[in-house]
Amino acid sequence: MKQQIVSLEGRSYPIIIGRGILGESKTLQPYIISDQILVVTNETIAPLYLAPLKKGLISDYHVDELVLPDGEKYKTMGTCLKIIDALLENQHRRNTTLIALGGGVIGDMTGFAAAMYQRGANFIQVPTTLLAQVDSSVGGKTGVNHPLGKNMLGAFHQPQCVLVDLDTLDTLPQREFVAGLAEVIKAGLLGDSDLFTYLEQNSQAILNKDPEVLAYIIERSCAIKADIVAQDERENGCRALLNLGHTFGHAIETGLGYKDWLHGEAVACGMVLAAKLSCKINALDEGALNRIEKLVTIFGLPREIPKELSVQELIQSMRLDKKNVGKGLRLITLENIGKAAITEDINENMIKQLLEGY
Ligand SMILES: NC(=O)c1ccc[n+]([C@@H]2O[C@H](COP(=O)([O-])OP(=O)(O)OC[C@H]3O[C@@H](n4cnc5c(N)ncnc54)[C@H](O)[C@@H]3O)[C@@H](O)[C@H]2O)c1
Repeated sequence: MKQQIVSLEGRSYPIIIGRGILGESKTLQPYIISDQILVVTNETIAPLYLAPLKKGLISDYHVDELVLPDGEKYKTMGTCLKIIDALLENQHRRNTTLIALGGGVIGDMTGFAAAMYQRGANFIQVPTTLLAQVDSSVGGKTGVNHPLGKNMLGAFHQPQCVLVDLDTLDTLPQREFVAGLAEVIKAGLLGDSDLFTYLEQNSQAILNKDPEVLAYIIERSCAIKADIVAQDERENGCRALLNLGHTFGHAIETGLGYKDWLHGEAVACGMVLAAKLSCKINALDEGALNRIEKLVTIFGLPREIPKELSVQELIQSMRLDKKNVGKGLRLITLENIGKAAITEDINENMIKQLLEGY
């Protein structure tokens, strides 16, 4: 079992990473301050992992559970209120602990419900997808979608701890697993060229879910995210770097109506576009771009925008991205593998030419 600490003064917490740790009662105990717990999960994950998790908790706590429907389309205020209903109906006090057992959808919603409940309850993340283990469970961004925009309602609310049981990846569908690899590539591109090289050299072992190789890339990705969050918890500066590929990616997801492509797939394509843009503005050399395109392809992630999307439509969504602050577009670009930058006021014509090149 290994630990990475997210250092946030009074709100620091560990990311505990190991195998078979889901049902070990001692692991979570130090982070639960009352005798009440609400475990929130969905109907896909409940039959797989709810019983083992509860087994480790049951003797010491009063444990309630809420099993929600599965899917991004349920990441709404309405579903979030069901979590609040369950807390109220079961008379949970303010010092209760919510446990999010699932992928990013369950984690984001449970964290947001915890942020709202009696002005802030405790919560623990138990991520079960690769994407959630390396990205969404760490850093305290919580929220739900609004019909007019993704993640438009939310709060920063840090968990008490994050428990990553690598064994849960055994049941994750391969396509979901590969989508999570996009966020691992992102971690390498942002802050660790050695991780990127490791991904290139061990791609087959990664795709075969080799336990040791997986443990290493998950630990490194968590460490990179924890370091960035510790420097800028509320995204006033360097945390924006974590959006590498996301402005393009969100535009693709919006254009496709959040169907057909998974979030990680859109991010992978977005990172290739960001790398091409970086070449266009002479920040990145062609050799680095080729390595990025090659790795994305080896992992079976898409690098070309879907043909049915129009350039105009994509640019329109990019304009609406909530990360824009000035008149032009604000995007994350690359200076090298392992070094990213925030680039302001990018001319839309340049993006147009880039997208038309496809
Ligand atoms: N808060 C953040 O910082 C942050 C960062 C990135 C993404 N996100 C959010 O995360 C969400 C995407 O998360 P995701 O990719 O984990 O998707 P997800 O939560 O929808 O999970 C993907 C699918 O895998 C299933 N699943 C989960 N774990 C499983 C397991 N171990 N075995 C079998 N099936 C399993 C789920 O039920 C679901 O059907 C999006 O809503 C996105 O906005 C948040």
